[in-house]
Amino acid sequence: MAESTKRPGKGKRPGKTKETPAASPARAAAVALLGQVLGQGRQLSDAMQAGSFARLDPADRAAAQRLATDVLRNLPRCDQVLKPRLRKAPPLSVRNVLRLGAYELCTGGAAHGVVNDCVSLISADRKTKTMSGMVNAVLRRLADEGPELWAKLRVPRLPRWLRDPLVAAWGSPAVAEMERAHLAGAPLDISVSADAEGWAERLGADLLPTGSLRLADPGQVSALPGFDEGGWWVQDAAAALPAKLLGDVKGLHVLDMCAAPGGKTLQLAAGGAEVTALDLSEGRMARVLENLIRTGLKAKTQVGDALEATGSYDAILLDAPCSATGTIRRHPDLPHAKQGEGISELIGLQEAMLDHALSLLKPGGRLVFCTCSLLPDEGECHIEEALTRHDGLKVLPLDAPWIEEGWRSEEGGLRLRPDFWPERGGMDGFYMAVLEKPAG
Ligand SMILES: C[S@@+](CC[C@H](N)C(=O)[O-])C[C@H]1O[C@@H](n2cnc3c(N)ncnc32)[C@H](O)[C@@H]1O
Repeated sequence: MAESTKRPGKGKRPGKTKETPAASPARAAAVALLGQVLGQGRQLSDAMQAGSFARLDPADRAAAQRLATDVLRNLPRCDQVLKPRLRKAPPLSVRNVLRLGAYELCTGGAAHGVVNDCVSLISADRKTKTMSGMVNAVLRRLADEGPELWAKLRVPRLPRWLRDPLVAAWGSPAVAEMERAHLAGAPLDISVSADAEGWAERLGADLLPTGSLRLADPGQVSALPGFDEGGWWVQDAAAALPAKLLGDVKGLHVLDMCAAPGGKTLQLAAGGAEVTALDLSEGRMARVLENLIRTGLKAKTQVGDALEATGSYDAILLDAPCSATGTIRRHPDLPHAKQGEGISELIGLQEAMLDHALSLLKPGGRLVFCTCSLLPDEGECHIEEALTRHDGLKVLPLDAPWIEEGWRSEEGGLRLRPDFWPERGGMDGFYMAVLEKPAG
């Protein structure tokens, strides 16, 4: 955390010798982010939109994001090393400072800087000031004992609200592998509009069997070769597969029904489709437009409710809003910000969207339904149930050469999980299936 240890407040008022120096902006911001995720149930990406965070120096912003993400990814471990060292549970704001300190100290952070910053954060708040001695003592002990302890801790488990249904669906050993994948995090995956081999060489990336490029240690994305030219865009390898399953879309009118931020729109446009990209969120649609401008690809964009969409399309891609539980490798805040609330509403919305999408599809047209969820209720079950509601609807068999053993689900879709491709660096969890509407 080299860039995060600046102390702009230090020595500002030389007359006041007892004043505690201000903590580094990155650590202070990381603790504030943790407070929003763990106290207010906000997602990290939303918390980072706040003005106070956006005003930070870019290096501090990056360091704060990295720290908060690492603490969330290791939350059960942080709590495990802290618990026996605390006489009673401190308030959340103090616990979050301790968690940050514990993570840094146990993973090789310089004891002096970490402990002083954590004590400064506690002392700066009138309500927690009295606990600064306790924080100092706990963290000093952890600086000595923490690294050895940490090495023996098990891989963090998902919280019960998510672990229980996943164990019921996939079994304990598979969930343990998923947890291992969540802890490992995710590489950077890239989709290209053409010349994947050429881009792999220019970027020094691995070309995956599915056609995505993968960089293990990319650094700043916008500084990579070709970003400004728009020859590629960031997209997880699993997230790139639903658009591929639509097959040849050249010249077809395709509706991308929940399009933002636009990864699949770009793929469809690059494949020569006449794409209509629809999304409810104006803010997220702005990102689709940015991506279209940067890549020079063309699509018609519409802000609106998918359930009120009109028209008639040759093909539809429905990437429905979901629990996003397949993306925990990249978003470790997710299982902690929420406790599973809202998922039954999402399941109802997904079903209504699927039915409405089928009504907009021309006879004989293809529809890809997908969600980045690990829960069968947001994937497999929708397809099984749609087949009972719609006479003549078919699940099309999948025969792409990149489909591996064990990816296929019973009803004819693909079930992808974060623990797949462990030797390559994993993939996001996704469900996808291709439906065909009866011809007449
Ligand atoms: C999983 S994301 C889509 C990701 C996108 N397909 C991509 O590949 O970049 C789901 C999207 O659904 C949008 N959404 C949620 N409710 C909607 C609705 N009623 N109508 C249209 N879009 C909706 C959200 O704004 C969000 O952008």
